[in-house]
Amino acid sequence: MKNAKRYPLSVCLIHWIVAIVIVGNLVIGWMLDDNMDLMDLHKSIGVLVLALAGVRLINIFRKKKKLPPSVNPKGSLQYTAEKTVHGLLYLCMLSIPLLGWLKTNAAGHAVHFFSLYSLPVLIDKNRALSHLLGDLHSGAALILAAILGLHVLGALVHMVGKSENVLLRIMPFKTRSTLS
Ligand code: HEM
Ligand code: HEM
Repeated sequence: MKNAKRYPLSVCLIHWIVAIVIVGNLVIGWMLDDNMDLMDLHKSIGVLVLALAGVRLINIFRKKKKLPPSVNPKGSLQYTAEKTVHGLLYLCMLSIPLLGWLKTNAAGHAVHFFSLYSLPVLIDKNRALSHLLGDLHSGAALILAAILGLHVLGALVHMVGKSENVLLRIMPFKTRSTLS
């Protein structure tokens, strides 16, 4: 199989930790209407995503020189699509939790992280703004789900159609030894 080069272990680990946490929080978010008692958990997990996104960004710049080249030829439409999707995923990882944080503050509440500490209040109470930020947060979550669908579809297309096992490139354990 082509593309033996893979992502550094730290990039793989953060990728899958964030994937599990963010997909879990999307599901919890959509359950909130009928389960308001999940709200504090949803917010705390969201804050965790924001922190992990920061660590991830720092790490990806640190490892820039060790990243495998794209499986798509530079300048191709697929290359642009891949980079755009990755960029949008980063944007979602940062903007969705931030919008949730601001929405909570505008509703007149502080955000608590697993009852361990309270995050700073960034804006004053403002009912109209709170509704707007809530709508933006919910809309951005829907957009994230759609982009994520494209991201997974892209990986499948490469694996099934082109015999490029891109999934192995981002696997942290076991399969790493099957690549060289
Ligand atoms: C849930 C199932 C997921 C699958 C099957 C999947 C699959 C993959 C694969 C195969 C790659 C490597 C592509 C290559 O070889 O160049 C990759 C990279 C990447 N994925 Fe995912 N992914 C998933 C979830 C996510 C999520 C939830 C996010 C972010 C919200 C994400 C963001 C990224 C980014 C930004 C990269 C580029 C490497 C990096 O900057 O960390 N993925 N993904
Ligand atoms: C990656 C992290 C997050 C994801 C994926 C996410 C996703 C979601 C989803 C899918 C909903 C339901 C939207 C709907 O009903 O259509 C929701 C609602 C909500 N989320 Fe998040 N969220 C995240 C982080 C946060 C954070 C950090 C906070 C606050 C600190 C937060 C606060 C809220 C609030 C207050 C609502 C209710 C919104 C409303 O009813 O207007 N979320 N979220």
